[in-house]
Amino acid sequence: MFMAATATQAALSNGARTIPAQLALSSEAGTLKRSVMRELLKLTARADVISLAGGLPASELLPLAQLQECIETVLRRDGTRALQYSPMIEPLRRWICDTMRARGVACEPEQVHITNGAQQGLTILSRLFLNPDQPAVVEAITFTGIQQVTAGRGAVMRTVPTDLATGVDVDALEEAFHRTPRPRLAVVIPDFHNPLGVSLTLEKRQRIAELAARYRVPLVEDDPYSALRFDGQSLPPIKAFDEAGAVFYIGSFSKMLAPSLRLGWIVAPAELASQVTVLRESIDLESSTLIQRAVSLFVEQGLMAGHLARFNAANRCRRDVLFDALAHYLGDRASWTRPEGGLFVWLTLREEIDTWALLEDAIAAGVAFVPGAAFALNGGSHNTLRLNFSNVQPELIPVAVERLAQVIKQKGK
Ligand SMILES: Cc1ncc(COP(=O)(O)O)c(C=O)c1O
Repeated sequence: MFMAATATQAALSNGARTIPAQLALSSEAGTLKRSVMRELLKLTARADVISLAGGLPASELLPLAQLQECIETVLRRDGTRALQYSPMIEPLRRWICDTMRARGVACEPEQVHITNGAQQGLTILSRLFLNPDQPAVVEAITFTGIQQVTAGRGAVMRTVPTDLATGVDVDALEEAFHRTPRPRLAVVIPDFHNPLGVSLTLEKRQRIAELAARYRVPLVEDDPYSALRFDGQSLPPIKAFDEAGAVFYIGSFSKMLAPSLRLGWIVAPAELASQVTVLRESIDLESSTLIQRAVSLFVEQGLMAGHLARFNAANRCRRDVLFDALAHYLGDRASWTRPEGGLFVWLTLREEIDTWALLEDAIAAGVAFVPGAAFALNGGSHNTLRLNFSNVQPELIPVAVERLAQVIKQKGK
């Protein structure tokens, strides 16, 4: 039995407060669970712990001075217009549209809806399509935010496995689409999957778009990571193969620029673009005018390419150091995915090791990771874990992996 309630797990649930009996929560609030990830990150914030648990870009690689200049310029140049409510900023929509076109997506600026990050894109699309007690198709191991929005809508989860080398299992996806009742929505992560690190093959991208069209299932392509490629060939998004208007692409500036901007976008099929806007307005009206204008200026000045080149070069170096350290310290005890970008590597250990129990020893030994089970909708994955390589100094990576290897060896004795 691998479900041992470890002290770490107990600590993660301690924050739960009792709700006064007379206040009845909505069914959505009742369904939502505290984010294990957020709580875990608090536990791993100790100065002597090297954390490979987070999912952040490194702070020292954020373009602070350039963003500061853009914000100041916008305030000086645009004055109070930058502080008002306003429609979406057109030059930013056009830049997103051009970027998508360069990746093979035939779209118009009117199809681009600016959101507060990818998470809000997921919320908007879940609200657009999901009804309680009806099926949503999601990967069995996936980003917890996808689980939160779909479960929060009361959807019945229909899960599909993901191959660690080629991405989501498309035969399983077809089977899930084929079953009655027809799913109301499906969500997949195409590039540098969180938490698996894998990217979909070109052939699978084509087939997924075909399946969404054939079975008339709205397909959400959640893609915050594709701009973070540092090796190999960039592939067109699933949306590039969407002839039927069944695919909704979600992008984000969080990882490619800075998470706190809270800026992302949806590319919707033309016929549904205005529905997306109406639904979004019901949530929070619009994204910050100031931030949209500042990011627009950043990209108009051509600063994105240089920033991404620096950022991705640093991440490639960190990933390489991680691969070397894994081969050196854990070569005979673990297997891992080989991402060509993004932020994460997924490790599989021997069957007898429970990574929740391992985490306690690891934190005591000064290293942190996220147990794979935290991402698993159907349980299981007890012997897996996610490692982040972007937010740790390269020279600390071998130290962290050596510590991890030591606790794994002790458990494996
Ligand atoms: C797959 C995936 N989707 C969405 C998000 C949310 O991103 P954002 O900061 O753009 O809301 C994340 C963040 O980690 C993610 O990994």
